[in-house]
Amino acid sequence: MKKKNILYLLLIFGTVLFINACYYDKADLLYPTNTGAVCDTAGVMSYSLRVKPILQAQCYSCHTATGGSGNINMSSYANDKIIGLNGKLYGSISHASGFIAMPQGGNTMSSCDQAVIKKWITGGCLNN
Ligand code: HEC
Repeated sequence: MKKKNILYLLLIFGTVLFINACYYDKADLLYPTNTGAVCDTAGVMSYSLRVKPILQAQCYSCHTATGGSGNINMSSYANDKIIGLNGKLYGSISHASGFIAMPQGGNTMSSCDQAVIKKWITGGCLNN
């Protein structure tokens, strides 16, 4: 009888673990810019394919108009390059001291998104 109870307990634990595993799989699907365990930063980082979609989703809403929030006007390659090269882009998303943490009032950018942007900056902020 006791052995049977232990088996039931194990079955319940197993089910709970299994359901949790499924939950995390779905979370990855819900946040497509976070590529999950694999963060591909190989090769030359593309502004149009990788960097711009991240900025579009997390920054442009407040920084598009002339004189956008904090006087930072993003949304064009030329403007994104300026804050890429002067250090403000990476400083703000990595919450480095001396910079105002961005996105303001939002979640910290995923480490993968940060790595993508860092790679683009260290590659010289190419228009590619
Ligand atoms: C909800 C609106 C909002 C979003 C979204 C947002 N920002 Fe900002 N941002 C602001 C405001 C407001 C300021 C001015 C803050 C201040 O001066 O205290 C600012 C300031 C800045 C500055 C100037 C910081 C400095 O040190 O001079 C940079 C750079 C910046 N944002 C980059 C970004 C980036 C990159 C993203 C996307 C990851 C982003 N922001 C998303 C509202 C936003």
